[in-house]
Amino acid sequence: MRALRKLNTTVATTDRSDGSLGDLQDFFIEKDGIAGYTSRGDFRLTVFSQNTIRVSISRASYDDFSYAVIASPAKNKFTIDDTPGALIIKTTSIKLVVQKFPVRFSFYTVEDVLLNEDDAAFGTSWNGEQVTTYKKLQPNERFLGLGEKTGSLDRRGKGYQNWNTDYFGYGVDADPIYATIPFYIGVHSNTAYGIFFDNPYKSFFNFGASNNRFASFYADAGEMNYYFIHDDAVGNIIQHYTALTGRMELPPKWSLGFQQCRYSYYPDTEVITAANTFRDKDIPADAIVLDIHYMDEYKIFTWSEKDFSNPSALLKKLNTLGFKVVLICDPGIKIEKGYHTYESGKKENVFLKYPDNTNYEGQVWPGWCHFPDFTKPETRAWWKKQLKSYVNLGIDGFWNDMNEIATWGQMIPENIELDFDGNKTTMRKGRNVYGFQMARATYEGSKALSKKRPFNLTRSGYSGIQRYGALWTGDNVATDEHLLLGVRLVNSLGLSGVPFAGYDVGGFVGDADQKLFARWISIGALSPFFRGHSMINTRDSEPWAYGEDVEHIARNYIKLRYQLLPYLYSVFFEASKTGMPVQRSLAIDYTHDPKIYEQRFENQYLFGPSILVAPVDSKQEFAKVYLPEGAWYELHTGKKHEGKNEVIVEAPVHKLPIFIKESGIIPVQKATQNTTEKIDIIEYHVYAGSKEKTFVHYTDDGESFDHEKGNFASREIKFSPKQNQVVLAEQVGDYMDTIKKIKIVFHHFSPLQKLTINGEKHKVKEEQHSFFTPITKFDPVIDPPPHFYDTVQTITITNKPAAIQVKW
Ligand code: GLC
Repeated sequence: MRALRKLNTTVATTDRSDGSLGDLQDFFIEKDGIAGYTSRGDFRLTVFSQNTIRVSISRASYDDFSYAVIASPAKNKFTIDDTPGALIIKTTSIKLVVQKFPVRFSFYTVEDVLLNEDDAAFGTSWNGEQVTTYKKLQPNERFLGLGEKTGSLDRRGKGYQNWNTDYFGYGVDADPIYATIPFYIGVHSNTAYGIFFDNPYKSFFNFGASNNRFASFYADAGEMNYYFIHDDAVGNIIQHYTALTGRMELPPKWSLGFQQCRYSYYPDTEVITAANTFRDKDIPADAIVLDIHYMDEYKIFTWSEKDFSNPSALLKKLNTLGFKVVLICDPGIKIEKGYHTYESGKKENVFLKYPDNTNYEGQVWPGWCHFPDFTKPETRAWWKKQLKSYVNLGIDGFWNDMNEIATWGQMIPENIELDFDGNKTTMRKGRNVYGFQMARATYEGSKALSKKRPFNLTRSGYSGIQRYGALWTGDNVATDEHLLLGVRLVNSLGLSGVPFAGYDVGGFVGDADQKLFARWISIGALSPFFRGHSMINTRDSEPWAYGEDVEHIARNYIKLRYQLLPYLYSVFFEASKTGMPVQRSLAIDYTHDPKIYEQRFENQYLFGPSILVAPVDSKQEFAKVYLPEGAWYELHTGKKHEGKNEVIVEAPVHKLPIFIKESGIIPVQKATQNTTEKIDIIEYHVYAGSKEKTFVHYTDDGESFDHEKGNFASREIKFSPKQNQVVLAEQVGDYMDTIKKIKIVFHHFSPLQKLTINGEKHKVKEEQHSFFTPITKFDPVIDPPPHFYDTVQTITITNKPAAIQVKW
């Protein structure tokens, strides 16, 4: 490293006029990076990790308060090189070149491949209070992510705004909608990088929209504050982003089951009828969700005397039927003398205020309301006290709605004040984090009260929302376009750190027809958050409400989800540890394959590591699917396809195109009525392939935090094609599952005649054994050719599972 040369020592920025960052005047070394002065504006570079560098640029002082970021810089090794024209900061992954005259930032890999560079003329600029960073568009650069945004997988050529908005029946190109996640991933030249612009003011992203020169991001006010992330793979970039903004805690297992909602089920007898019908019709489900009609005049923390006279008895009955209950919680507190939540909120001074110290009043479902200031610690503590009545009753899940904040008129004044955890500000800065902090209050409050893992759903959010539960995509419409848009929104949320996400299956606004509902529920069964929901005054929309054929299809796909539960829960566990999404856009594993970005293929995704889903709309009878590199097996027929190929497959309404990746390992169980039913047989389905692969099968009690103290069971399953073996490693963790038998199902292997288990010879059985129960009603003759027959081997286990080696 060259000796560091200090420039002038006494210069401080003097020019605060508009324009771009000026020439370097001075800099000094800080603990985790460097700080510099320019003739216009200052900057600070902080090495957060080897893969993440924070860039702060300001004309005033730096603002280090963030609701999103929970990491602090680790003690990092990095070098600083001071050359006549530039300062060069190098970690083991990123080389950041800070041009001095004027100051501009360029990021390279350590092999000197350019990742991202400022536009030479504009760099970071001010235009009044608005602050923008302009990045030069790279050849063939693509842009992914940005959270809950409509539009294509590749966002190039488009611009977006972040301003959380209640958007009833949003159009398929509408923007903004409910949540703000100002994080995107840039892809070009066989490399990728991420930029997280942590500024909650209204912000804008321009990915070469109406220009061919730059991608830019800007905010209405505040400072330029972004984190630059680089690693070799998109999955790793998501991992670094979620190291900064946090990861989802493992949700309760029941919340991965099917949840039935409607606006609204009432009276209570109707709720019971719905629950009974699931059981009578042998359709698995785990939760009933109560919308606003459970309350007395939409007053939160009350129950309608008329329609829900005995909530405790209702809950008991539902629990007996194997259902949990999720309740909607809106932030609007009705202004009504004597209403306890209103009275106590007023007394404890928790509501949002105008600058003249009067409580803000806005209208929503209950009429005129006050709204809690969830950015105030005292308000969150008050909210927890309110939640007590629900938790004591045995409510297991909460649904934070209307938290953008939605008020009739949709124009909440921006002069309303927020505590912002002691950093007082106004709605102008706080609107985009309000819903996030409401979700936080509900999550933390219910967790502390119940000591169980909360299920918490939210409509609005900001980066980091994944720490407080699941997000759903609001008031979609019952059309094919929305069916596919929902898939893209969830793919994008996954790329943006939110693994637990979903859409209203069946469409919220309007009536689905039979085919649309059937298709929607098939795709939804392979999405992270799986809930049927529809609006008031629309047709019945339960799985049995569309006639016998659709009921059959719905049952079949819901059962498929329940069969996949051991796989799904393991994938959720991985998401909680790494941030890797459950529903994975193909851009994660096949980033540099241009085909996956084509409009006809961009909706495809991997559900966990090994199941490829090709969503098709309800009108299609055939589908063109792009299979990326490797070999793939059709789930329905077992047919093998070589990857890097477009294939045409049958896709009638009962057959969603699903493919298993070669060498895929999928733990499966029988379809239970709900996720808490115990099972005694687990099946490990291994698909032939040339690649070595491992999968960690994880389980635990499904609801407590005991897994954090070692009460879990996880087992690595490793398929090594070259050694002709599958090894189940010894169980890690002390949890004693109820499993007594393991069945290993080898798919598409040539007949395995000499199979040994821990050295002992065993007879093998050949039978057709797909884990997907064929829908015989529609396909009476299932007759796969002989080479699709599979080998099934059953192993009985006792006590805590030891290692098992299966060889052939
Ligand atoms: C909002 C929600 C919707 C809910 C309705 C009534 O529109 O997005 O899901 O059913 O309010 O509470």
